[in-house]
Amino acid sequence: MKILISIDESEYAKKAVNYVANAVNPNVKITLFNVMPIISSQLERQLYHPLFAQKIEELKSVMGERKKEVQVLMGECCSILTSAGIPEKNIEVKIREKEIGIARDIIAEAEGGSYDAVVIGRRGLSAAASFVLGSVSNKVIQHIKNCTVWLVD
Ligand SMILES: Nc1ncnc2c1ncn2[C@@H]1O[C@H](COP(=O)(O)OP(=O)(O)OP(=O)(O)O)[C@@H](O)[C@H]1O
Ligand SMILES: [Mg+2]
Repeated sequence: MKILISIDESEYAKKAVNYVANAVNPNVKITLFNVMPIISSQLERQLYHPLFAQKIEELKSVMGERKKEVQVLMGECCSILTSAGIPEKNIEVKIREKEIGIARDIIAEAEGGSYDAVVIGRRGLSAAASFVLGSVSNKVIQHIKNCTVWLVD
């Protein structure tokens, strides 16, 4: 069995990892997956203007920092799984640059990677109290095909 866990920087994603850690057989293969919004070279060309050049450089450096933070976060998530007895060889980390949109990139990975289930938190980093579901979890649930979704609260 193969499970994809969608990770953002929220406590909800950590709860999702903890849930999986306690729920699955240690033989299960787990992929920790994060979609990183980036400034693509195409967008950079579109935005290019001498007045923006400095700002674009600053933005890129912020993105680089973000990537390091996500790597640290992924390390923490791995530790949660290994502490629960899941061997490291069964854990894979994927940090992908955003291609279409966060939800659609998660769906593409889930459907294309022949996972048995995709795990998402009910909400994420924004966690607006007025919404029952975040927009990413909402879109994944609405549009995914041929893959079970675990919505962790
Ligand atoms: N960039 C991401 N990469 C991977 N998974 C993500 C990402 N963003 C969100 N998720 C997954 O989706 C779940 C729900 O997050 P979502 O972003 O939908 O909620 P939110 O941040 O509260 O609301 P919104 O982003 O719509 O304002 C998270 O717990 C996580 O599992
Ligand atoms: Mg969010």
